[in-house]
Amino acid sequence: MKKFLDLGLQPLANSYVLRKNLHLKEKKFKLILGFNPKNYLVSILNTVPKEKMFNKNYPYKSSESKTMKTSFMELAKKIKKKFKPKFIVEIGCNDGAFINNFDPKKIVGVEPCKNLARITKKKGYKVYSEYWNLRLSKKIIKEKKVDVIYSANTLSHITNYSEIFGAIKKSLSKKGILILEDPSLLNCIKNVAYDQFYCEHVYVFSTIALKNILDKFGLEIFDIENIITHGGSNRYYIKNKDNSFFKINKSVERELKKERKYGLQKFSTYVKFANKVKKSKKQLLKIFNKIYDKKVIGYGATAKSCTVLNYCNINNKHISFFYDTTSFKINKYLPGTKIRIKKYKKLTNKDADYVFLGAWNFKSEIFDKERLYIKNGGKFITHIPFPRII
Ligand code: TMP
Repeated sequence: MKKFLDLGLQPLANSYVLRKNLHLKEKKFKLILGFNPKNYLVSILNTVPKEKMFNKNYPYKSSESKTMKTSFMELAKKIKKKFKPKFIVEIGCNDGAFINNFDPKKIVGVEPCKNLARITKKKGYKVYSEYWNLRLSKKIIKEKKVDVIYSANTLSHITNYSEIFGAIKKSLSKKGILILEDPSLLNCIKNVAYDQFYCEHVYVFSTIALKNILDKFGLEIFDIENIITHGGSNRYYIKNKDNSFFKINKSVERELKKERKYGLQKFSTYVKFANKVKKSKKQLLKIFNKIYDKKVIGYGATAKSCTVLNYCNINNKHISFFYDTTSFKINKYLPGTKIRIKKYKKLTNKDADYVFLGAWNFKSEIFDKERLYIKNGGKFITHIPFPRII
């Protein structure tokens, strides 16, 4: 592994702090990014045990995002029409935002976070509240193999990808496919979105790296869609190499070409990216220092914000509080920086002169919602693709 960026000591990004625990010292880990010159995979170097991150206190709920719900609904329609699956498995079903679109007889979920699994079960779906692995896959396919395995923003969280893809390969029916959706490394690098990296995001996949990994398991990508979720993601359609029901679409070579042209197979690209990140930190701090006497709040207390704020040493002296809609985060404090999170209410110009856009990936949804604040001269601060006031 070749290191290219050190994002410093970071707390666990989704470990929001309770008021009564504010005085306790948080566990921190080194967030260092590296590039594997053999398969071109980009990953974080020090991984955190999964039980520390994905447990009954997991705060993120997909159903609370309009963008995610719409994206899942549209994909579900497409899957039914195009692939007509009899049996679907979703790995990382969260609170059921995707599963919700299917007949409970045709789909099961896998969700190790017990709080989320419970919500999905309540909606009438079968959920295995366990981590996806070979043992669990054998249990699931006892009666029949799977026609569609879907996993959004989950596989890139799992350290041991050999077991993951091995289990997927063995679970697919003859016509079976895997649909995998994760933030795109190309977008991440182009947008200087270094906050896509935090303890949970072990990998940010490029198509080039994913292709190399899948190859080892006799799997191949046969179609790719560029989608808007999580700041620009790729949806990969993957099949067994000996599955001849689907032809390889031109979109695959097109995406590979784009990535090669940008240089995602070269270490030097990541060194350049690291330099841009260091510059971004300086510029963001400069903005915050310039407006230190203004009312500044944050919007969307994302796990991504945790990386940015801790890396740039921005804390509760710079940002008074964050607004967030996620029930689980409200009245807690952001890890590391200890900025309070308040229940979201529509922005008014009395609230703030400047609003730091933690959830930059929902910029259009948010700007649309806060039209009045913007119309009356309210300003946002963003660091994507470079720090600026808008
Ligand atoms: P994510 O970037 O990891 O998906 O998290 C988005 C966070 O932003 C989540 O905690 C909800 C919050 N959020 C708001 O508070 N208001 C909004 O309008 C949107 C779209 C998200």
